[in-house]
Amino acid sequence: MLRKYLLFLSLRRVNSFRSFILQKPCRAVKTLPIFSLEGRTCVVTGAARGLGKEFLTAFALSGARGACVDLTLSASEESVRHITEHVAKSTDITCDLRPYACNATVESDVKQTWDKIVSDFGKVDVLVTAAGIVDNVEAENYDFPRWRKMLDINLDGTWLFARAAGKHMLAQHIRGSIILIASMSATICVRPQKQAAYNASKGAVQMLAKSLATEWGPHGIRVNSLSPGYMHTDLIKNLLEKEGKQLVDNWQKDIPLGRMAHPSELHGTIVWMASNASSYLNGSDVIVDGGYTCW
Ligand SMILES: NC(=O)c1ccc[n+]([C@@H]2O[C@H](COP(=O)([O-])OP(=O)(O)OC[C@H]3O[C@@H](n4cnc5c(N)ncnc54)[C@H](O)[C@@H]3O)[C@@H](O)[C@H]2O)c1
Repeated sequence: MLRKYLLFLSLRRVNSFRSFILQKPCRAVKTLPIFSLEGRTCVVTGAARGLGKEFLTAFALSGARGACVDLTLSASEESVRHITEHVAKSTDITCDLRPYACNATVESDVKQTWDKIVSDFGKVDVLVTAAGIVDNVEAENYDFPRWRKMLDINLDGTWLFARAAGKHMLAQHIRGSIILIASMSATICVRPQKQAAYNASKGAVQMLAKSLATEWGPHGIRVNSLSPGYMHTDLIKNLLEKEGKQLVDNWQKDIPLGRMAHPSELHGTIVWMASNASSYLNGSDVIVDGGYTCW
C-alpha cells in the first residue's frame, strides 16, 4: 500500500515537472468526458482564418480529426500548418487536419469537396459553416449584384454544405451535429452601420438551422445556429480599416461586457455544440455577444 502511494506521489511529481519544463498543461485536467470529440471528424468551412480557424483549433484540441475548407488550397494548407504547430506547442495531441480548396457557392465544387473529405476520412460527424462575408451599404444604394453575392456566400454556400452533410449523415445513420454560423445580426439590427443585406442573410441562416432541425432531428441529427457578437477577426479588422476605428468605441458602449471578444472565446461554445455535451440542443440559436442583444 505504502509503495503504491509513493509511486503515485512520484508520478505526480514527474507530471508536474514535465508540465513545468515543457510549459505544457498537465493532461489530467478534470472535465466532463462528454465534451470530448475523440474519434469524430469535423468539417469547417471558411477555416483558413477568423472564426472558422478558431473552431478547427478547438476541435483539434478536443481530439477530433478535421477538414479545413476555404477558397484556396494554399490558404487552407497554411491554416492547417499553423493550427498543428499551435496544438503541438500546448498539448501532446497529434493533429489529423487536412486542407481543401472549395468555393462554397459553387454546387459542383461543394459536391466534389464533400466526396473527397468522406473518402479521406471515411465519415463526417460535425459540420460548421463559417464561410461568410460582411458588407455595409445603405439599402437604397445597394446594387443588386452585390446583394446577390451576399446571399450567395452567406446563405447559398451555407445551405449547399448543410445539404451535403445532412444527406451523408442520413445515409450513414450518423447522429451528427451541424452548426450554421449566423450572427447576432440575425436577431437585431446593430448600429450605426447599415447592413440590411447582411442582416437578412443571417436571419435566413438562423431560420434554415431551425428548419433542418425539424427535418433531420427525427434521425438524431442536430442542427443549430451559433450567433456571435463582435469578434476581433480579419473580417472586422478589414471593416474597421474601411469605416474608421471610432466604430469600435460606438460598439463597445452597447456591449454590457464593455469589449469585443477574442475569437478563441468561442472555443467552449463550439465544442459544446458539436459534442454529446449538447445532446438535447436542436433548432436553437446560441447567441454569444457579451450581452449586446439584451438592450
Ligand atoms: N467576426 C465577427 O465579429 C462575426 C460576428 C458574427 C458573425 N460572424 C460570422 O462568422 C463567419 C466568419 O467570420 P470571420 O470574422 O471569421 O470572417 P473572415 O473574413 O475572417 O473569414 C471568413 C473566411 O471565409 C472564407 N470564404 C469567404 N467566401 C467563401 C466561399 N465562397 N467559399 C469558401 N470560403 C469562403 C474566406 O476566405 C475567409 O477565410 C461569417 O459568416 C461572419 O458573418 C462574424
